[in-house]
Amino acid sequence: MKNFIVKGNFCYSKNIDELITKENCYAVCVDSICQGVFEHIPKDFEALPVLDYTDKLIIPGLVDLHLHAPQFAFRGMNMDMELLQWLDTNAFCEEAKYSDLDYAKKAYSIFADCIKNSATTRACIFATIHNKSTELLMDMMENSGLVSFVGKVNMDRNSIKSLCEESAQISALDTESFIADTLDKYENTKPIITPRFVPSCSDELLKKLGELQKKYAVPVQSHLSENLDEIQWVKELCPDSKSYADAYDRFSLFGNGAKTIMAHCVHLNDDEIELIKKNEVFVAHCPASNINLRSGISPVRKLMDKDLKIGLGSDVAGGETISMFSTIVQTIKSSKLYQRLVNSSFSALTFENAFYLATKGGGEFFGKVGSFEKGYEFDAVIIDDSVLPHPQELNIRQRVERSVYLSADLLSINAKFVKGKKII
Ligand code: GUN
Ligand code: FE
Repeated sequence: MKNFIVKGNFCYSKNIDELITKENCYAVCVDSICQGVFEHIPKDFEALPVLDYTDKLIIPGLVDLHLHAPQFAFRGMNMDMELLQWLDTNAFCEEAKYSDLDYAKKAYSIFADCIKNSATTRACIFATIHNKSTELLMDMMENSGLVSFVGKVNMDRNSIKSLCEESAQISALDTESFIADTLDKYENTKPIITPRFVPSCSDELLKKLGELQKKYAVPVQSHLSENLDEIQWVKELCPDSKSYADAYDRFSLFGNGAKTIMAHCVHLNDDEIELIKKNEVFVAHCPASNINLRSGISPVRKLMDKDLKIGLGSDVAGGETISMFSTIVQTIKSSKLYQRLVNSSFSALTFENAFYLATKGGGEFFGKVGSFEKGYEFDAVIIDDSVLPHPQELNIRQRVERSVYLSADLLSINAKFVKGKKII
Protein backbone atom coordinates (compact mmCIF):
# COMPACT_ATOMS: atom_id res chain seq x y z
CA MET A 1 0.00 0.00 0.00
CA LYS A 2 1.62 3.22 -1.16
CA ASN A 3 -1.13 5.77 -0.53
CA PHE A 4 -2.88 5.94 2.80
CA ILE A 5 -3.87 8.07 5.74
CA VAL A 6 -2.71 7.66 9.33
CA LYS A 7 -4.97 8.92 12.11
CA GLY A 8 -3.72 9.79 15.61
CA ASN A 9 -1.91 12.37 17.75
CA PHE A 10 1.09 13.87 15.97
CA CYS A 11 4.22 15.50 17.34
CA TYR A 12 7.08 16.79 15.16
CA SER A 13 9.55 19.64 15.00
CA LYS A 14 8.68 23.02 13.57
CA ASN A 15 12.28 24.09 14.08
CA ILE A 16 15.10 23.35 16.50
CA ASP A 17 13.28 25.13 19.36
CA GLU A 18 9.61 24.34 18.76
CA LEU A 19 7.40 21.29 18.45
CA ILE A 20 4.14 21.07 16.55
CA THR A 21 1.47 18.92 18.18
CA LYS A 22 -1.77 17.96 16.45
CA GLU A 23 -4.41 16.03 18.32
CA ASN A 24 -6.73 13.60 16.58
CA CYS A 25 -5.53 14.49 13.09
CA TYR A 26 -4.78 12.82 9.78
CA ALA A 27 -1.41 12.51 8.01
CA VAL A 28 -1.66 11.76 4.30
CA CYS A 29 1.01 9.68 2.56
CA VAL A 30 1.10 9.62 -1.25
CA ASP A 31 3.89 7.75 -3.07
CA SER A 32 5.94 7.59 0.15
CA ILE A 33 5.74 11.36 0.63
CA CYS A 34 3.86 13.11 3.43
CA GLN A 35 1.29 15.60 2.16
CA GLY A 36 0.88 17.21 5.59
CA VAL A 37 -1.19 16.69 8.74
CA PHE A 38 -4.83 17.79 8.62
CA GLU A 39 -7.71 18.20 11.07
CA HIS A 40 -10.09 16.69 8.51
CA ILE A 41 -9.30 14.47 5.55
CA PRO A 42 -8.89 16.78 2.53
CA LYS A 43 -11.36 16.17 -0.31
CA ASP A 44 -8.66 15.02 -2.76
CA PHE A 45 -7.67 12.19 -0.43
CA GLU A 46 -11.07 10.99 0.74
CA ALA A 47 -10.77 7.71 -1.13
CA LEU A 48 -7.58 6.65 0.64
CA PRO A 49 -7.64 3.95 3.35
CA VAL A 50 -7.32 5.24 6.93
CA LEU A 51 -5.06 3.42 9.39
CA ASP A 52 -6.64 4.21 12.71
CA TYR A 53 -4.21 4.94 15.58
CA THR A 54 -6.69 7.04 17.57
CA ASP A 55 -5.31 7.86 21.08
CA LYS A 56 -1.78 6.80 20.10
CA LEU A 57 1.22 9.10 19.66
CA ILE A 58 2.80 9.45 16.21
CA ILE A 59 6.31 10.90 15.82
CA PRO A 60 8.76 10.96 12.89
CA GLY A 61 11.09 7.94 12.71
CA LEU A 62 14.32 8.44 14.64
CA VAL A 63 17.67 8.74 12.89
CA ASP A 64 20.83 7.08 14.23
CA LEU A 65 23.71 8.87 12.52
CA HIS A 66 26.44 6.66 13.99
CA LEU A 67 26.68 3.09 15.24
CA HIS A 68 28.84 -0.03 14.92
CA ALA A 69 26.84 -3.16 14.01
CA PRO A 70 29.66 -5.62 14.87
CA GLN A 71 29.93 -4.15 18.38
CA PHE A 72 26.28 -4.88 19.12
CA ALA A 73 27.19 -8.26 20.65
CA PHE A 74 29.19 -6.67 23.49
CA ARG A 75 26.94 -3.70 24.19
CA GLY A 76 26.44 -3.17 27.88
CA MET A 77 29.71 -4.94 28.74
CA ASN A 78 33.34 -3.99 29.34
CA MET A 79 32.70 -0.32 30.04
CA ASP A 80 35.57 0.39 32.43
CA MET A 81 38.18 1.56 29.91
CA GLU A 82 38.89 4.73 27.96
CA LEU A 83 38.74 4.79 24.17
CA LEU A 84 42.14 3.57 22.97
CA GLN A 85 42.44 0.73 25.48
CA TRP A 86 38.76 -0.15 24.93
CA LEU A 87 39.30 -0.39 21.16
CA ASP A 88 42.32 -2.69 21.55
CA THR A 89 40.71 -4.84 24.23
CA ASN A 90 37.12 -5.13 23.04
CA ALA A 91 36.23 -3.66 19.70
CA PHE A 92 39.10 -4.93 17.57
CA CYS A 93 38.98 -8.52 18.92
CA GLU A 94 35.23 -8.75 18.40
CA GLU A 95 35.37 -7.18 14.93
CA ALA A 96 38.09 -9.65 13.87
CA LYS A 97 35.50 -12.44 14.28
CA TYR A 98 33.59 -11.11 11.26
CA SER A 99 36.08 -12.74 8.88
CA ASP A 100 33.97 -15.82 9.70
CA LEU A 101 30.71 -15.57 7.73
CA ASP A 102 28.90 -18.01 10.01
CA TYR A 103 29.64 -15.85 13.01
CA ALA A 104 28.68 -12.71 11.07
CA LYS A 105 25.38 -14.29 10.08
CA LYS A 106 24.55 -15.19 13.66
CA ALA A 107 25.57 -11.85 15.14
CA TYR A 108 24.25 -9.54 12.43
CA SER A 109 20.86 -11.25 12.35
CA ILE A 110 20.42 -10.46 16.06
CA PHE A 111 21.43 -6.85 15.37
CA ALA A 112 19.17 -6.46 12.33
CA ASP A 113 16.19 -7.88 14.20
CA CYS A 114 16.74 -5.51 17.11
CA ILE A 115 17.14 -2.34 15.03
CA LYS A 116 14.12 -3.30 12.93
CA ASN A 117 11.99 -3.41 16.07
CA SER A 118 13.39 -0.17 17.52
CA ALA A 119 12.13 3.37 16.86
CA THR A 120 15.02 3.92 14.42
CA THR A 121 14.03 4.29 10.76
CA ARG A 122 17.36 5.47 9.29
CA ALA A 123 20.92 4.63 10.27
CA CYS A 124 24.55 5.16 9.27
CA ILE A 125 26.40 2.01 10.19
CA PHE A 126 30.05 0.95 10.52
CA ALA A 127 30.61 -2.74 9.70
CA THR A 128 34.15 -4.23 9.70
CA ILE A 129 37.05 -4.45 7.26
CA HIS A 130 35.54 -7.63 5.72
CA ASN A 131 33.70 -7.25 2.39
CA LYS A 132 31.70 -10.48 2.54
CA SER A 133 30.24 -10.05 6.00
CA THR A 134 29.59 -6.35 5.33
CA GLU A 135 27.53 -7.30 2.27
CA LEU A 136 25.70 -9.88 4.38
CA LEU A 137 24.84 -7.09 6.83
CA MET A 138 23.59 -5.00 3.92
CA ASP A 139 21.33 -7.86 2.76
CA MET A 140 19.87 -7.99 6.27
CA MET A 141 19.44 -4.22 6.53
CA GLU A 142 17.63 -4.20 3.20
CA ASN A 143 15.32 -6.97 4.45
CA SER A 144 14.64 -5.01 7.64
CA GLY A 145 12.94 -2.23 5.68
CA LEU A 146 15.09 0.50 7.25
CA VAL A 147 17.00 2.98 5.10
CA SER A 148 20.70 2.85 5.84
CA PHE A 149 24.22 3.58 4.77
CA VAL A 150 26.65 0.78 5.61
CA GLY A 151 30.42 1.08 5.48
CA LYS A 152 33.12 -1.51 4.98
CA VAL A 153 35.69 -0.15 7.45
CA ASN A 154 39.24 0.80 6.39
CA MET A 155 42.17 0.06 8.72
CA ASP A 156 45.73 -0.41 7.47
CA ARG A 157 47.70 0.48 10.61
CA ASN A 158 47.73 0.43 14.42
CA SER A 159 45.38 -2.49 14.81
CA ILE A 160 45.71 -6.06 15.99
CA LYS A 161 47.08 -8.36 13.30
CA SER A 162 43.77 -10.16 12.71
CA LEU A 163 41.99 -6.85 12.03
CA CYS A 164 44.53 -5.02 9.90
CA GLU A 165 44.43 -4.80 6.12
CA GLU A 166 47.69 -5.79 4.45
CA SER A 167 48.33 -2.52 2.68
CA ALA A 168 46.71 0.75 1.62
CA GLN A 169 46.44 -0.66 -1.87
CA ILE A 170 44.59 -3.83 -0.80
CA SER A 171 42.30 -1.81 1.45
CA ALA A 172 41.45 0.57 -1.40
CA LEU A 173 40.93 -2.27 -3.90
CA ASP A 174 38.56 -4.04 -1.48
CA THR A 175 36.73 -0.77 -0.94
CA GLU A 176 36.33 -0.22 -4.65
CA SER A 177 34.87 -3.68 -5.17
CA PHE A 178 32.61 -3.17 -2.14
CA ILE A 179 31.27 0.06 -3.64
CA ALA A 180 30.90 -1.37 -7.14
CA ASP A 181 29.09 -4.47 -5.77
CA THR A 182 26.61 -2.57 -3.60
CA LEU A 183 26.01 0.83 -5.19
CA ASP A 184 22.98 -0.31 -7.21
CA LYS A 185 22.22 -3.59 -5.50
CA TYR A 186 19.60 -2.38 -3.02
CA GLU A 187 16.77 0.11 -2.87
CA ASN A 188 17.28 1.31 0.70
CA THR A 189 20.81 0.25 1.62
CA LYS A 190 23.80 2.12 0.23
CA PRO A 191 27.58 2.00 0.66
CA ILE A 192 29.48 4.73 2.50
CA ILE A 193 33.25 5.22 2.61
CA THR A 194 34.38 4.50 6.16
CA PRO A 195 37.97 5.20 7.22
CA ARG A 196 37.76 4.12 10.88
CA PHE A 197 39.70 7.13 12.17
CA VAL A 198 43.04 8.75 11.39
CA PRO A 199 45.10 6.48 13.69
CA SER A 200 43.81 3.44 11.72
CA CYS A 201 44.51 4.82 8.24
CA SER A 202 47.80 5.72 6.58
CA ASP A 203 48.04 8.89 4.47
CA GLU A 204 48.31 6.70 1.40
CA LEU A 205 45.03 4.97 2.26
CA LEU A 206 43.20 8.24 3.02
CA LYS A 207 44.39 9.62 -0.32
CA LYS A 208 43.06 6.58 -2.18
CA LEU A 209 39.73 6.79 -0.33
CA GLY A 210 39.41 10.46 -1.30
CA GLU A 211 39.91 9.42 -4.93
CA LEU A 212 37.29 6.66 -4.64
CA GLN A 213 34.87 9.16 -3.15
CA LYS A 214 35.26 11.39 -6.20
CA LYS A 215 34.98 8.48 -8.63
CA TYR A 216 31.78 7.01 -7.15
CA ALA A 217 30.22 10.07 -5.45
CA VAL A 218 29.40 8.15 -2.27
CA PRO A 219 29.21 9.72 1.21
CA VAL A 220 31.86 9.44 3.93
CA GLN A 221 31.76 8.67 7.66
CA SER A 222 34.46 8.62 10.32
CA HIS A 223 35.37 9.66 13.87
CA LEU A 224 36.76 13.05 14.91
CA SER A 225 38.17 14.50 18.14
CA GLU A 226 36.62 12.06 20.56
CA ASN A 227 39.30 11.55 23.20
CA LEU A 228 42.30 13.66 24.32
CA ASP A 229 44.86 10.82 23.99
CA GLU A 230 43.52 10.10 20.50
CA ILE A 231 43.91 13.76 19.50
CA GLN A 232 47.50 13.83 20.81
CA TRP A 233 48.23 10.64 18.86
CA VAL A 234 46.85 12.17 15.65
CA LYS A 235 49.16 15.17 16.18
CA GLU A 236 52.12 12.78 16.37
CA LEU A 237 50.97 10.70 13.40
CA CYS A 238 50.22 13.71 11.20
CA PRO A 239 52.81 16.41 12.03
CA ASP A 240 51.98 18.27 8.82
CA SER A 241 48.25 18.55 9.47
CA LYS A 242 46.95 21.78 10.98
CA SER A 243 44.38 19.85 13.02
CA TYR A 244 42.62 16.49 13.31
CA ALA A 245 39.91 17.75 10.93
CA ASP A 246 42.59 18.89 8.50
CA ALA A 247 44.03 15.36 8.46
CA TYR A 248 40.79 14.32 6.66
CA ASP A 249 40.27 17.55 4.74
CA ARG A 250 43.66 17.41 3.05
CA PHE A 251 42.60 14.14 1.40
CA SER A 252 39.14 15.39 0.35
CA LEU A 253 37.42 13.37 3.06
CA PHE A 254 35.83 16.24 4.93
CA GLY A 255 32.66 17.23 3.14
CA ASN A 256 34.49 18.36 0.02
CA GLY A 257 31.55 17.76 -2.29
CA ALA A 258 30.48 14.62 -0.43
CA LYS A 259 27.95 14.22 2.35
CA THR A 260 30.10 13.50 5.39
CA ILE A 261 29.45 12.50 9.00
CA MET A 262 32.03 12.92 11.74
CA ALA A 263 31.15 11.15 14.99
CA HIS A 264 31.78 12.65 18.45
CA CYS A 265 33.47 16.05 17.84
CA VAL A 266 33.90 16.53 21.59
CA HIS A 267 37.14 18.53 21.68
CA LEU A 268 37.13 20.63 18.49
CA ASN A 269 39.12 23.83 18.18
CA ASP A 270 37.59 26.95 16.59
CA ASP A 271 39.28 26.33 13.22
CA GLU A 272 37.82 22.82 13.09
CA ILE A 273 34.34 24.14 13.90
CA GLU A 274 34.69 26.65 11.07
CA LEU A 275 35.84 23.93 8.66
CA ILE A 276 32.89 21.72 9.63
CA LYS A 277 30.54 24.63 8.96
CA LYS A 278 32.17 25.62 5.69
CA ASN A 279 32.19 22.06 4.36
CA GLU A 280 28.68 21.26 5.69
CA VAL A 281 29.92 18.20 7.55
CA PHE A 282 27.33 16.52 9.80
CA VAL A 283 28.28 16.07 13.45
CA ALA A 284 27.00 12.83 15.01
CA HIS A 285 26.65 13.63 18.70
CA CYS A 286 27.08 10.44 20.76
CA PRO A 287 26.45 11.33 24.42
CA ALA A 288 26.21 7.80 25.88
CA SER A 289 29.53 6.74 24.41
CA ASN A 290 31.21 10.01 25.40
CA ILE A 291 30.27 9.30 29.02
CA ASN A 292 30.88 5.53 29.05
CA LEU A 293 34.39 5.90 27.60
CA ARG A 294 35.02 9.10 29.62
CA SER A 295 35.79 10.94 26.38
CA GLY A 296 34.26 14.17 27.63
CA ILE A 297 31.11 16.26 27.53
CA SER A 298 30.43 17.57 24.06
CA PRO A 299 29.63 21.29 23.74
CA VAL A 300 26.50 20.59 21.65
CA ARG A 301 24.84 23.93 22.45
CA LYS A 302 27.96 25.71 21.23
CA LEU A 303 27.90 23.68 17.99
CA MET A 304 24.17 24.38 17.59
CA ASP A 305 24.76 28.10 18.08
CA LYS A 306 27.23 27.95 15.17
CA ASP A 307 24.45 26.48 13.02
CA LEU A 308 26.29 23.25 12.30
CA LYS A 309 24.42 20.27 10.91
CA ILE A 310 23.97 17.92 13.87
CA GLY A 311 22.29 14.56 14.44
CA LEU A 312 22.47 11.98 17.20
CA GLY A 313 24.31 8.66 17.26
CA SER A 314 23.90 5.70 19.61
CA ASP A 315 27.51 4.71 18.86
CA VAL A 316 26.78 1.17 19.96
CA ALA A 317 28.82 -0.32 21.64
CA GLY A 318 30.60 2.74 23.07
CA GLY A 319 26.98 3.60 23.74
CA GLU A 320 25.17 0.80 25.56
CA THR A 321 21.92 0.80 23.61
CA ILE A 322 20.66 1.34 20.09
CA SER A 323 17.60 3.10 21.57
CA MET A 324 17.38 6.59 20.11
CA PHE A 325 14.85 7.43 22.85
CA SER A 326 17.65 6.83 25.33
CA THR A 327 20.06 8.83 23.14
CA ILE A 328 17.69 11.82 23.24
CA VAL A 329 17.57 11.64 27.04
CA GLN A 330 21.36 11.29 27.34
CA THR A 331 21.78 14.27 24.99
CA ILE A 332 19.73 16.44 27.33
CA LYS A 333 21.42 15.13 30.48
CA SER A 334 24.96 15.57 29.18
CA SER A 335 24.17 19.13 28.04
CA LYS A 336 23.00 19.89 31.59
CA LEU A 337 26.35 18.71 32.95
CA TYR A 338 28.13 20.84 30.35
CA GLN A 339 26.26 23.93 31.50
CA ARG A 340 26.81 23.20 35.21
CA LEU A 341 30.37 21.88 35.15
CA VAL A 342 32.08 23.25 32.03
CA ASN A 343 30.63 26.54 30.80
CA SER A 344 27.49 28.13 32.22
CA SER A 345 27.11 30.44 29.23
CA PHE A 346 25.92 27.49 27.11
CA SER A 347 22.45 26.55 28.27
CA ALA A 348 21.34 22.93 28.46
CA LEU A 349 19.36 21.48 25.55
CA THR A 350 15.58 21.43 25.86
CA PHE A 351 13.48 18.40 24.99
CA GLU A 352 12.51 20.27 21.80
CA ASN A 353 16.19 20.68 20.84
CA ALA A 354 17.12 17.03 21.34
CA PHE A 355 13.94 15.75 19.63
CA TYR A 356 14.83 17.90 16.61
CA LEU A 357 18.39 16.52 16.48
CA ALA A 358 17.07 12.92 16.57
CA THR A 359 14.57 13.54 13.76
CA LYS A 360 14.99 16.48 11.41
CA GLY A 361 18.62 17.20 12.36
CA GLY A 362 20.02 13.77 11.50
CA GLY A 363 17.25 13.24 8.93
CA GLU A 364 18.72 15.93 6.71
CA PHE A 365 21.60 13.59 5.91
CA PHE A 366 19.04 11.39 4.10
CA GLY A 367 17.23 14.25 2.32
CA LYS A 368 13.79 15.50 3.36
CA VAL A 369 13.45 13.22 6.36
CA GLY A 370 12.37 13.66 9.98
CA SER A 371 9.10 15.59 9.80
CA PHE A 372 5.45 15.35 8.80
CA GLU A 373 5.57 18.61 6.88
CA LYS A 374 4.49 18.42 3.26
CA GLY A 375 7.20 16.97 1.02
CA TYR A 376 8.99 14.88 3.66
CA GLU A 377 9.47 11.14 3.18
CA PHE A 378 6.94 9.35 5.34
CA ASP A 379 8.81 7.79 8.29
CA ALA A 380 6.66 7.36 11.40
CA VAL A 381 6.74 5.65 14.77
CA ILE A 382 3.49 4.88 16.58
CA ILE A 383 3.65 4.80 20.38
CA ASP A 384 0.99 3.35 22.64
CA ASP A 385 1.53 5.11 25.97
CA SER A 386 -1.62 3.66 27.54
CA VAL A 387 0.71 1.13 29.18
CA LEU A 388 1.99 4.07 31.28
CA PRO A 389 -1.20 5.18 33.07
CA HIS A 390 -1.36 8.67 34.58
CA PRO A 391 -3.82 10.18 37.07
CA GLN A 392 -4.22 13.41 35.07
CA GLU A 393 -5.06 14.27 31.50
CA LEU A 394 -1.76 15.04 29.76
CA ASN A 395 -1.29 17.02 26.57
CA ILE A 396 0.48 15.56 23.54
CA ARG A 397 3.79 17.32 24.27
CA GLN A 398 3.79 15.93 27.83
CA ARG A 399 2.89 12.45 26.63
CA VAL A 400 5.67 12.39 24.02
CA GLU A 401 8.32 13.69 26.43
CA ARG A 402 7.26 11.15 29.03
CA SER A 403 7.26 8.31 26.51
CA VAL A 404 10.80 9.21 25.43
CA TYR A 405 12.07 9.34 29.03
CA LEU A 406 10.17 6.20 30.03
CA SER A 407 10.78 4.31 26.80
CA ALA A 408 12.19 1.32 28.65
CA ASP A 409 8.79 0.96 30.36
CA LEU A 410 6.91 1.17 27.05
CA LEU A 411 8.33 -2.26 26.21
CA SER A 412 7.86 -1.86 22.47
CA ILE A 413 6.64 0.50 19.82
CA ASN A 414 3.26 -0.08 18.26
CA ALA A 415 4.05 0.29 14.57
CA LYS A 416 6.69 1.77 12.28
CA PHE A 417 6.64 3.19 8.76
CA VAL A 418 9.73 3.82 6.66
CA LYS A 419 9.46 5.71 3.36
CA GLY A 420 5.73 5.11 3.32
CA LYS A 421 5.96 1.38 4.02
CA LYS A 422 4.71 -0.22 7.23
CA ILE A 423 7.53 -2.48 8.43
CA ILE A 424 6.21 -3.40 11.90
N1 GUN B 1 37.19 5.59 17.14
C1 GUN B 1 37.66 4.69 16.25
N2 GUN B 1 36.95 3.55 16.29
C2 GUN B 1 36.01 3.72 17.21
C3 GUN B 1 34.96 2.89 17.69
O1 GUN B 1 34.76 1.75 17.27
N3 GUN B 1 34.16 3.43 18.67
C4 GUN B 1 34.34 4.69 19.13
N4 GUN B 1 33.54 5.16 20.09
N5 GUN B 1 35.32 5.47 18.71
C5 GUN B 1 36.15 5.00 17.75
FE1 FE C 1 31.93 5.17 16.84
